[in-house]
Amino acid sequence: MTLRSSQWYSGDDRNAYIHRAWMRRGVPDSAFEGRPQIAIANTASDLTPCNAHLSEVAQSVKNGVYEAGGIPLELPVVSLGETNVRPTAMLWRNMAAMATEEMLRANPIDGVVLLGGCDKTIPALLMAAASVDLPAVVVPGGPMLTGHFRGEALGCGTDVWRLSEEVRAGTLSEAMFVKSESSMIRSPGHCNTMGTASTMALVAEALGLVVPGVAGTPAPDARLREAAHLTGALTVGLVAEDRRPSTFLTKGSFRNAIVALAAIGGSTNAVVHLLAIAGRLGIDLTIDDFDRIGADVPLLVNLQPAGRYLMDDLFRAGGFLAVMREVRDLLDPDALTITGRPFVDYLDDAKIWDADVITSRDSPLQPHAGISVLRGSLAPGGALIKPAAASPHLLRHRGRAVVFDSIEDFHARLDDPDLDIDEDSVMVLRGCGPKGYPGMPEVSNMPLPAKLLAKGVRDMVRICDGRMSGTAYGTVVLHVTPEAAAGGPLALVRTGDWITLDVRGRRLDLDVPADELARRMPNQAAVDGYANPRRGWERLYVDHVLQADQGADLDFLVGSSGSEVSRESH
Ligand code: FES
Repeated sequence: MTLRSSQWYSGDDRNAYIHRAWMRRGVPDSAFEGRPQIAIANTASDLTPCNAHLSEVAQSVKNGVYEAGGIPLELPVVSLGETNVRPTAMLWRNMAAMATEEMLRANPIDGVVLLGGCDKTIPALLMAAASVDLPAVVVPGGPMLTGHFRGEALGCGTDVWRLSEEVRAGTLSEAMFVKSESSMIRSPGHCNTMGTASTMALVAEALGLVVPGVAGTPAPDARLREAAHLTGALTVGLVAEDRRPSTFLTKGSFRNAIVALAAIGGSTNAVVHLLAIAGRLGIDLTIDDFDRIGADVPLLVNLQPAGRYLMDDLFRAGGFLAVMREVRDLLDPDALTITGRPFVDYLDDAKIWDADVITSRDSPLQPHAGISVLRGSLAPGGALIKPAAASPHLLRHRGRAVVFDSIEDFHARLDDPDLDIDEDSVMVLRGCGPKGYPGMPEVSNMPLPAKLLAKGVRDMVRICDGRMSGTAYGTVVLHVTPEAAAGGPLALVRTGDWITLDVRGRRLDLDVPADELARRMPNQAAVDGYANPRRGWERLYVDHVLQADQGADLDFLVGSSGSEVSRESH
């Protein structure tokens, strides 16, 4: 076969001379003669602490690529550290995806190994790979090891929320809270709860884009290096077989991802990411597919935030394949993996070694773990709720709205002793959608007012057009579409309005007569608060971002451009 990279390297003309000469760096002629050029798209960065170890992983990938006869080429790409990047990492996901796609297309690359970990990095890499459509495999960077504080395991994210609520409720001192900080992050790797990073690594494997059995391997584990080496070697072979994402990913691959998402109790963020990836591939995936396919899938993984354990427990208990074996009958048997074999082929030898961490299908932690899609007068385009993370008594609830126009408004008034709110109220936060913030931050799981925490209230119905951290929990209705800034009815809610949530009936309604709603103008404070950036990426983003039900991708990035480059400037 003719390698794509030969467009740069073959021939005796001036252009080929230039391309080869600057890349020689001591490599022999044979490096440019029919050897696949394998990029290692590396999101390692000191400012993305969850991915800081990926350059070591890249070294193992390189060894594997060389061993199989390819040439490895490390390509640093935009990295997003969830805890650092402001105003929210999601604002930059599409930029990272676009930049990675363009750099893969622009360079003499035949295939790519994608190294990601922290929340947005694997989604961005997969969106890029889908659009450039070169052979691509993910090596997930893996979760960190479990840290302990005062004898108790600490779950990243989840325990930060829990401990900070305890401080606000007066049941934990601030000094103790701060003391727990240095125990939270024990080793390299991403968050060890079933947050977005863990979810997206496992979901990428269910899609078929990770060598089966690798996702969930802890970051410091020697087996991750071994897997990286083998993945490097595999990628060289993929080039010869021309196994590009568009050649084997199908709606069935996404079916498997949705089943996995439910069975592991994964993050709601996976919905926007999977919709965006499917959009790049031209696969017709909708939010309703998540409800239709996933709603009745049982929860089989006892991990925080829905359960007790953490990611290294899942790995020792049998790992992701042991979970998926339990739901084998729900999977598409024909959906292929990057190896060329169906995903289900890898389930035969999987075993559960600790039934407290991975439960069998016969005794699930919850019988229906998927994400429910709500519609109604408050969310005509849909909204999500994860019932497994909600309080059962709130799944059907009618309460009076307490409205916050922005996250700043929320913080300013939350603990105002005069705030008229009780445990039956419905907290509404708007201005947090893709356009409104912009970037759809993870703020939907609003903290509860301190005066209610002190009374022992630990959950309330909360409604927002933003997202929620995968490590969070509560009765939270999120991704309300259309968002307030896009003219959704969320903009018309006033404090004191009645709202009805009925998860079983899949409804979310604002109980205000239609003629009254028609009279209401969008709340001016909310409109004034919506972002209107003057220039740069934020301007481009606000002008082009799609709503959550379309994956919050940019409208001009949906679909694929392939890997062709038509012009050459030398
Ligand atoms: Fe990186 Fe949680 S902050 S995965």
